[in-house]
Amino acid sequence: MGIPHGGIAFFDSGIGGLTVLAECLKRLPNELFYYYGDNARAPYGNLPPERIYGYVEESMELFASLHARAVVLACNTATAVCIETLRKKYAFPIIGAEPAVLPAVKASDDVLVLSTCATQSSARFSRLCQRVKKQFPTVRLTLAPCHDLAKEIENHVLDSAYSYAPFLPTGNPSAVVLGCTHYVYAKEQIQKHYNCPVFDGNEGIANRLVERLFLAENTVAEQNIRDERPLVTTARPPKIYFLGGEKSRNLRVFEHMFAKYSK
Ligand code: DGL
Repeated sequence: MGIPHGGIAFFDSGIGGLTVLAECLKRLPNELFYYYGDNARAPYGNLPPERIYGYVEESMELFASLHARAVVLACNTATAVCIETLRKKYAFPIIGAEPAVLPAVKASDDVLVLSTCATQSSARFSRLCQRVKKQFPTVRLTLAPCHDLAKEIENHVLDSAYSYAPFLPTGNPSAVVLGCTHYVYAKEQIQKHYNCPVFDGNEGIANRLVERLFLAENTVAEQNIRDERPLVTTARPPKIYFLGGEKSRNLRVFEHMFAKYSK
């Protein structure tokens, strides 16, 4: 069966982006979605930037061939390493995943940011931290690269009793930022472990996606009014096409964790 064109595409190295897709489904219940997880080559977080870029680009080519309306890089690592270059290369709007450092420092003065090593060492992430430090000079911002946390979550997500505590850095922060979409699956555990509020960026990504689509649609609507062409309704039941080598695994995890959002 052919895949219909014009959907909203999600990319992650594995299952992490499903947490973003679930959040976006709440806001966009009638859209067509693609989900591409590169699970076989995950985790990306310990790979060099050129390798990460090469892998991400493969999925972008697929999205381009499907005439995706928008692409969500539902991966902080891919965003940190690739988003600027990808935006120059592809015509579709690309929405990235950024660690929610700003909301956290607005709520707390001692913030621990967990992310992959590749995100931590990226220029984009250091620019974000510098901006935040400049704006909130009294806040203590501790940046902790987590070597194996994404891999552990990728492998144990369906085991609700599995403990991620051995993979969490020590500390006594008053807020924690989840700078990797995989970590969202462990949000409750992380909250209990540090006994403080935990921030993720998923709601922000959903808001930016909705804004971006709204902007694009208004532009089309204006053109259509000028052209006197009828507008075509996009309302239809939500449909998610899982793509890539591990599509059945991502579908299984999605159904297990988030099926309620696609009903
Ligand atoms: N989910 C990813 C992120 O948000 C990548 C994790 C990994 O593959 O290391 O950073």
